[in-house]
Amino acid sequence: MAHHWPVGLDQLAYGGDYNPEQWPEHVWQEDVRLMREAGVTMVSVGIFSWALLETERGVYDFGWLDRLLDLLHENGIRVDLGTPTVVPPAWFYREHPEALPVGREGVRYEFGGRGAICHSSPAYRQAAASITEQLGRRYGSHPALALWHVHNEYGVPVSACYCEASAEDFRQWLAARYTTLKELNEAWGTAFWGQHYNRWDDIRPPRLTPTACNPAQQLDFARFTSDTILENFKRERDILHRLAPGIPVTTNFMTALSQCESLDYWAWGREVDLVTNDHYLVAEAERNHVNLAMSADLTRSVAGGRPWLLLEHSTGAVNWQPRNLVKQPGEMARNSLAHVARGSDGAMFFQWRASRYGAEKFHSAMLPHAGTDSRIWREVVALGASLGSLGAVRGSRVEADAAILWDWQSWWAQKLEWRPSVELDARERADAWYAAAYDRHLTVDFAHPESDLSRYPLVLVPALYLTTEAAGINLTEYVREGGTLAVSYFSGIVDEHDAVHAGPHPGALRDVLGLTVEEFAPLRADQQVRLVGDGPELTGDGWSEFVVPRGADPVWTYADGPAAGHPAVTRHALGGGRAWYVSSRLNGTHLDTVLGRAIADAGLTTPELPRDVEVVERTGEHGRYLFAINHTAAAARVPLPGSGTELLTGTPVSGHLDVPGNTTRVVHL
Ligand code: GAL
Ligand code: ZN
Repeated sequence: MAHHWPVGLDQLAYGGDYNPEQWPEHVWQEDVRLMREAGVTMVSVGIFSWALLETERGVYDFGWLDRLLDLLHENGIRVDLGTPTVVPPAWFYREHPEALPVGREGVRYEFGGRGAICHSSPAYRQAAASITEQLGRRYGSHPALALWHVHNEYGVPVSACYCEASAEDFRQWLAARYTTLKELNEAWGTAFWGQHYNRWDDIRPPRLTPTACNPAQQLDFARFTSDTILENFKRERDILHRLAPGIPVTTNFMTALSQCESLDYWAWGREVDLVTNDHYLVAEAERNHVNLAMSADLTRSVAGGRPWLLLEHSTGAVNWQPRNLVKQPGEMARNSLAHVARGSDGAMFFQWRASRYGAEKFHSAMLPHAGTDSRIWREVVALGASLGSLGAVRGSRVEADAAILWDWQSWWAQKLEWRPSVELDARERADAWYAAAYDRHLTVDFAHPESDLSRYPLVLVPALYLTTEAAGINLTEYVREGGTLAVSYFSGIVDEHDAVHAGPHPGALRDVLGLTVEEFAPLRADQQVRLVGDGPELTGDGWSEFVVPRGADPVWTYADGPAAGHPAVTRHALGGGRAWYVSSRLNGTHLDTVLGRAIADAGLTTPELPRDVEVVERTGEHGRYLFAINHTAAAARVPLPGSGTELLTGTPVSGHLDVPGNTTRVVHL
């Protein structure tokens, strides 16, 4: 049985990707000296080293990695060892050019960057298994080894491949899902546009078509892609489990919805020993700490609530955005501690030492080009000391106040062509509803629509276009048993094959919401609608509907626009609970007003705190840890439910906590 935490690491994880192969070996001595100065506890190595480790098929050079691991071990730094399978070497493609992936347009990508992989290629699978086996044998019992880091960020920069090998693989996946062609034809609705299949061989990946390609075919291909890549992860994982029993295996996720779209992380989260995540701020976005919090909550949720680990973020600017803004003084520490507050047992970076050459030479690092006489280095050393004083937090858990439902498959389905309006955007709604909860200082988990929701007093559904019948029943039961549900428009519409549920919209959610939708009424680009009713007047845009109550009570009604006179926001009392429905796009205070009603129905109270003072708690065997992260420039005072010790300053506190501007405080209660 593998562990769920890096072996031999008895503190929070602090460090980064370390690529010493880019430097002469004398530099390594300076690296480890500075790592110790900064309080680094673990580094990730070997992620991109395949070409150096296996120089031609079956010809190996492990000497440098042997020396590196020994050096790190002598210096007490734990190792997260990569399998380098994200970058097959040039010799591999010389032998197997067919393993380069093909895009939807039929164009084959070339060697020269990274991640050029057809995950259905038998040659790739075999070569990846082989180098993994070599590493497992050689380092499986090395004393420095704490964690295996398989591949790197599966799912980006390309995930799907449309080549012939992938086509064959897709057909096999379909044959396992639909035992007969009859079933497949029904599931894909091939009666539409005459797409009936008589032979399995005729089925292809959804390559470029003159007009919209069959949506059920596209949706299944997206599922196939996530599943196929996951099989490749599992193959490497199983080799490592066999050769290095007890050493946990991870692969770094990118749960931020803006960073990887193609993996169903609910399925992936079950397969890793430790969930790890990479998160990069959208530098120019306002309040990007909200997106950070959302990604951290989503990561904890795919980890099933267990502690997880932030494996990469940046000390300062990245190099791949249009304008790579610096982080403000203290921002790196706030970012790091915000991840820790939400369940990460450490904070790691890309990367340790800035590269002199290659595509990422303008990316920030823990040790920047400017060297140690730099703001970033001083902040790196200070952060190491802060994390060093938070060791007790390790293993404690976050208890959420509410859940937000999220389903990658529903997102994939909604993003396909020809929806009723381009304004329908699942990610946009998820961001908006998450921000509304964040602004109320509610801590939320994300949950799968078919999961057990009974522990949450409040469940929010910002976007669930694809809702299975089972999910609909689950939500109905949840409300009957006393839960409070709030659902946004364009949810409950189609089944798992992107077919409209029989009868009026929103098929899967009609019963629980107590209403039907007679017609969708999308708004013009610049149109706004007024909602009047029991409370302040609200403004919506983007979308409206002809809502027909069938048990639900109208709470706000459209005063104008195409749906004038129809209910706009409704509340349905059902069993011991109630279900709210919001049929237009509300933002800011308008959304807050409506969700505030649902929050009150759920019996939740929300603290009076400035909007950007983030307060999150973790609970462990030895007590509670209250994190207060002040993203504003002004000092803030946070009420405390008792007394305790502020861990970063070692000061006793009681009754309240003063948090200087742009600073974090952590109280052990
Ligand atoms: C990550 C990746 C790293 C590095 C980093 C730059 O997505 O895993 O290897 O490229 O981005 O921000
Ligand atoms: Zn392929």
